[in-house]
Amino acid sequence: MPSTPEPQTERFYNFSAGPATLPVEVLEEVRDELPVLNETVGASVMEISHRSAGYDEIEESARALIKELLDLPDEWHVLFLQGGASMQFHQVPLNVLDQGASADYLITGRWGKKAIREGRIVADERGASVREAARGETDGGFTYIPGPGEMDLDENAAYVHFTSNNTVAGTQYHFTPEAPAPLVCDASSDFMSQPLKHPERYGLIYAGAQKNVGPAGVTIVLVSPDFLDERRRGLPTMLDYGTHAEKRFNTPPVFAVYVVEKVMQWLKDLGGVREIEKRNERKAQTLYDRIDASDFYRGAVREDARSKMNATFRLPSEELEERFVAEANEEGLVSLKGHRTVGGIRASMYNALPQAAVDALVRFMYEFEQAHG
Ligand SMILES: Cc1ncc(COP(=O)(O)O)c(C=O)c1O
Repeated sequence: MPSTPEPQTERFYNFSAGPATLPVEVLEEVRDELPVLNETVGASVMEISHRSAGYDEIEESARALIKELLDLPDEWHVLFLQGGASMQFHQVPLNVLDQGASADYLITGRWGKKAIREGRIVADERGASVREAARGETDGGFTYIPGPGEMDLDENAAYVHFTSNNTVAGTQYHFTPEAPAPLVCDASSDFMSQPLKHPERYGLIYAGAQKNVGPAGVTIVLVSPDFLDERRRGLPTMLDYGTHAEKRFNTPPVFAVYVVEKVMQWLKDLGGVREIEKRNERKAQTLYDRIDASDFYRGAVREDARSKMNATFRLPSEELEERFVAEANEEGLVSLKGHRTVGGIRASMYNALPQAAVDALVRFMYEFEQAHG
């Protein structure tokens, strides 16, 4: 009989853009609680009713922690939905765009393009419209974030949609847009990575969990009470934000919400979003300093727009980029390949990625340059 191989237990430094690395402390806690959540419940969280006290407590705690960590006004709704951030591209206009209405979109990358496309489908059906109010694109792709002076905002827009962090291009807003209409933000790839500035400017914020706050399967949607009140009525029940704001209408993604709750608790324990912002800034600084220290590496986007979550850069040739990814992989530095639509290298440095991972990456970058530069 062949012997059973030892399980692989070493964790790599995981620079994946999402689903992405999670805090190891959380994973271990989840592992320990997998067969039995606690002595009262006597079963796994996946095996109990979503209407039980055991689950209730978890969801309420996740909601309360998100509000507390972001300093969100108490009246805001925190929804745990399914369908990914991609569903929100459609659900937002579906809930908001009435006949004759218009919405503005700031396009700074692949996800914003997808969002406006879905908006247009709804607008065309309803006799409404969507406008591109800014675009951060050059010949070299989506390399910058248009400043306030570069936005052509409509005074009468129903909302202004933007993507706070562009996972593919590697750009990020370092300011909160000011607009005559409520902001709708796709915060999928920088949610909970820093404090939420100017919550009063927003109507709705959404984020797929699988980058900074948990596993895939749940999308967190924060909605202000005013934005919710103004929505259209008579929508399909599951697509109406009001349904989910009012009560737990159907079975939520219980396991994903359970992990999100633990990640939020982990974040609170380490000092909350102010502390994680400092750590994220240090990681980003470490990596961008290395990029800027040589001509071998070249940042892919404008310096003032660099993302603290996803750093994108190029090497002198595609062949070297391939080699870089392969050799890094052998060193346990994984998922560094850029998005297939843009190429290059992308190092994602979400909340749970330790500084040690970035330190190891910059050491590897130095050695790789010595060998191939
Ligand atoms: C900024 C942003 N928006 C939306 C999405 C799509 O998310 P989902 O796959 O959850 O629909 C992604 C996925 O990577 C993303 O990075």
